[in-house]
Amino acid sequence: MKPDHLIIFDTTMRDGEQSPGASMTREEKLRIARALERMKVDVIEAGFPAASNGDFEAVKAVVAMIKDSTVAGLCRANDKDVQRGIDALKGAKSPRIHVFLATSDLHMEKKLRMTRDQVFEQAKLSVRFARNHCGDIEFSPEDGSRSDPDFLCRVLEAVIDEGAGTINIPDTVGYAVPQQFGEFIRSLRERIPNSDKAVWSVHCHNDLGMAVANSLAAVMIGGVRQIECTINGLGERAGNTSLEEVVMAVRTRKDFFGLDTRIDATQIVPTSRIVSQITGFVVQPNKAVVGANAFAHASGIHQDGVLKARETYEIMTAEDVGWTTNRIVLGKLSGRTAFKQRLKELGIDLESEDAYNKAFQKFKDLADKKSEIFDEDLQALVSDTSVRESEDHWKLIHMSQASGMGERPHASVVITEAGKEHKIDAEGDGPVDATFKAIETVAKSGAELLLYSVNAVTSGTESQGEVTVRLSKGGRIVNGVGADTDIVVASAKAYISALNKLESKAEKVNPQRGI
Ligand code: KIV
Ligand code: ZN
Repeated sequence: MKPDHLIIFDTTMRDGEQSPGASMTREEKLRIARALERMKVDVIEAGFPAASNGDFEAVKAVVAMIKDSTVAGLCRANDKDVQRGIDALKGAKSPRIHVFLATSDLHMEKKLRMTRDQVFEQAKLSVRFARNHCGDIEFSPEDGSRSDPDFLCRVLEAVIDEGAGTINIPDTVGYAVPQQFGEFIRSLRERIPNSDKAVWSVHCHNDLGMAVANSLAAVMIGGVRQIECTINGLGERAGNTSLEEVVMAVRTRKDFFGLDTRIDATQIVPTSRIVSQITGFVVQPNKAVVGANAFAHASGIHQDGVLKARETYEIMTAEDVGWTTNRIVLGKLSGRTAFKQRLKELGIDLESEDAYNKAFQKFKDLADKKSEIFDEDLQALVSDTSVRESEDHWKLIHMSQASGMGERPHASVVITEAGKEHKIDAEGDGPVDATFKAIETVAKSGAELLLYSVNAVTSGTESQGEVTVRLSKGGRIVNGVGADTDIVVASAKAYISALNKLESKAEKVNPQRGI
């Protein structure tokens, strides 16, 4: 590793997936993994293999596909979990076992009900076991930032001796403050005699909004050379360190940090969109780097300045991070080859020719309704899960709705269930409510609606609406996405897509919940 290289460890598919409602199917994990590898992320944490069979299979599938990045699997510090990790990572070009065990008195006493000596032994033995089967071991003392430094030094020295090549200090509950956290890590590195045998890393949560600042302080003050982060800052509670912010901070302020990453920044925005579409977690407009307004200059003074000299108000360009300028990319007469080529340029790979055919048909339908098709329209079009599913249990055939001031909204929906057609009418509090009630009359899923959100894909009233519907049933949470120029139709598509996911036999993939 070059001394000025900062390792980017992405945990969108593991810690990010732990956000309530962000669970991903195997296919969705593969889409994200492909985007992360294209972005040149150094380490992709693909999941928590012992958490469920679904997660085990998802990690295996990622391993089979990824060639360029290291693939990591998270394991609790016991032989059974570690063995499951080793099995899931079998065949990986560059596998990493990531072992974690809590070291704060609070976690050891109240959660683990273990003494310091027991935790010390278990950490040592599990790393020894992992190292006997895998050459690349990372160890994380969970709740590290609130752990007693003397005990932490004892544990970390022992696991480095056992062969842990990366030591990752988690700020599990987002309690750290930058200066103190940086100094804490520096002092650990100074006090532990074999600290130079490991790469030091941090994993920060954003409960006080300081995850990025804490990570960067750990780099500058503590000398760490790996940051664990997620796309869009996804993660437990308030999320994790945001990958895009760390990468662009280090790159834009190279004069200060003196470091760089391998990341192809032009893939940041496309990857952010993929993650947001899959999880249904909308990116706030004023979010740094990937928010819709991150490069928008509204005030006249700013616009004037940027037109005269971009640097007056911009420290990086929108193109640097993969924003495309609302260019009309395709139109009604564009052929299948041009369509496929543009998807490729956007980093979108569909799994089969059948999926391309379905997507192309949707594109033609859209071009009939909307004269100008932008990149964002194409991205929304392929986010619609029906493009990727070969066998949909539920299909939307037709729908219409009527609503007006003082009238009770009414929807008529035609759907098929495994090929059998149903026509249903229903009333509701609004057109979307009436549509969902009509679908539920037949589907009888009984699922709880956790989230309904509508987003305009591009600007202007002719924009497609992209709708996310999150349903929960029997402990499973799924997201359905639908896009259309008619937002009630987009809503029906999203609801049907979520029902199809509930129907699919694919086991839920949602690590750490229920274990
Ligand atoms: O937040 C945390 O402590 C973690 C560890 C498992 C690295 O996610
Ligand atoms: Zn975490």
